Amino acid sequence: MQLLLYTIAGLLVSTSIATPTPTRDEALIERRQLLGDVLGSIDDISNGNADTDNPSKSLLDVLKPVTSNTKPSSVEEASAAISNVFQASPTPVNLFAAVAQLVEQGLTTENVQDALAFVDGLLDGQNSENNNNPIDPSPAAYPSAGPDDAPYSLSEDALRAAIYIPDTFQYGREGAPQPIILVPGTGNTGFITFSGNYIPLLQGSDIADPVWLNIPGYLLDDAQLNAEYVAYAINYIYGISNQREIAVAAWSQGNINAQWAYKYWPSTRDRVTDHIGFSPDYHGTVLANLITAPGEPLSPSVLQQEYNSNFIKTLRNNGGDSAYVPSTLIYSGFFDEIVQPQSGDIASGRLLDARSVGASNNEVQVVCAGRPAGTFYTHEGTLYNPLGFALLKDALANEGAGQSSRLNLTSVCNDYLTPDLALSDFLLTENAILVAALAILADPDKVFTEPAIRAYAT
Ligand SMILES: *[C@@H]1O[C@H](CO)[C@@H](O)[C@H](O)[C@H]1NC(C)=O
Repeated sequence: MQLLLYTIAGLLVSTSIATPTPTRDEALIERRQLLGDVLGSIDDISNGNADTDNPSKSLLDVLKPVTSNTKPSSVEEASAAISNVFQASPTPVNLFAAVAQLVEQGLTTENVQDALAFVDGLLDGQNSENNNNPIDPSPAAYPSAGPDDAPYSLSEDALRAAIYIPDTFQYGREGAPQPIILVPGTGNTGFITFSGNYIPLLQGSDIADPVWLNIPGYLLDDAQLNAEYVAYAINYIYGISNQREIAVAAWSQGNINAQWAYKYWPSTRDRVTDHIGFSPDYHGTVLANLITAPGEPLSPSVLQQEYNSNFIKTLRNNGGDSAYVPSTLIYSGFFDEIVQPQSGDIASGRLLDARSVGASNNEVQVVCAGRPAGTFYTHEGTLYNPLGFALLKDALANEGAGQSSRLNLTSVCNDYLTPDLALSDFLLTENAILVAALAILADPDKVFTEPAIRAYAT
C-alpha cells in the first residue's frame, strides 16, 4: 500500500516537472475548447444525433469531465456571469448546456463529479429521507385527518420518514415562531434546495421555525406521491406543534405538490395560514420535454410538468388554478430557464383567487422594475431575491397573502441578494440546479407516459 502511494506520488511529481505550466491564456483557451466540445456534444445528443466521436455517449458522460478552476469573487461578478450564461449567443440549448457553463465558471459550489457522487450516494444527515420522528401527532394524521381527504397510497412510516426536523425546531411552544415546512423542487432534497437561502434565513429567527421535506427519489417519481408527503407533513407538523397553524414555502414542483395536497386533502387548508411559492409551475412548463433528446424517456414528474399534461389539467380543473390557502407567489419573468411561460398574465407561477382567500402574484421584474431586485434571476434565483424574502415576512406577519404594497420597495428592491445572505449562499443556491440536472440524468426510473391519474381525482 505504502509503495503504491509512493509510486503515485512519484508519478505526480515527475508529471508536474515534465509538463510545463501553461500560461493563464493557454489555460483559458484549453478550458474554452473543452467546454466548446461539451456544448457541441450536448447539442448533438439533444437534437437526437449521437455524438460523432462516441455514438453511445450519454449526456451524463458528456457532463462528467466538466470542472472549474475559477471562482467569482463577488455577488456582482457571479450574477453578471450567470446572466451572461443565459443571454450569451448561442443561448444554452437546454438545462444541461446551461449547467455545464455554470459549473465551468465556478458558479456552483460543487463540480460535476462531486455532485454526481452525492446524487448516487446514500442520503444522510440533513439530506436524509429516512428520518426517525417518534412523536405521534395529536390529532392523528393517518390514515386520514378529515372526512373528505383522499386516501394515502404510502404507509405512515414512509410519509413520516421524509420529514427532517432539525434540533432547532420548537414544536409550536408558546412564544416560538410559526412552524414552516420547506418543500423542494424537482431533482432536489429539501436541504439541497434551501440550504443556501431559507434554512439560514429562518433558522433561529422570529419569522418562522423551519422543518423540511426530503422526499424520496428527488421528487422525480409520480407528483401525486410527492403530494402525499406534503399533505401528511402539514397534518403531522400541526399535530406535534400544539396545533399551531403552519406555513408552507415551496420551490418549483413543490408548489404543485402542495396545491394538489390542498385540493385533495382539504383537512390541510384550515391548518395552513400561508403558502409562499418560489418559481411555481401551476401550468407546468413548455420546456419540460426539451430537457432531453427527442424520443427518450423522462422522469414521471417531469412528464407531469409538461404544459398540457393530464396531471396539470387535473390539478387546474374545478378551481385548482385558484388559491386554496393565502398564496404569495414569486417568480422571474427574466429569465426562468426551467418554467415557461413565466411572465405576465400567462405566467405559470400565477394563481387566480376564485375562493377569495388571497393570491398575490409577484413577478420580480414588474414589482421591482428598473431596480437591482428586478433584474436577471434564474429559476433558482427567486430563492435569494430580496423581494421574495420581504414578501414571505409580510405574508407571515399579516392576515392573508403577502402584499408588495405594504413594503418599502425603495429599500427592498435596492439589493440583488437578500441581505443576510452571502456569495457562498448564492453559489449554494445555484448548486441546486446542478444537483437537479444530474438527478434527472441519473434517474433509473424514467418512463414514456405519465402516471395515471389516481381514482380520487378522476
Ligand atoms: C424607504 O426606504 C428608504 C431607503 O432605505 C428610506 O430612505 C425611506 O425613508 C423609507 N420610506 C419609508 C416610508 O419608510
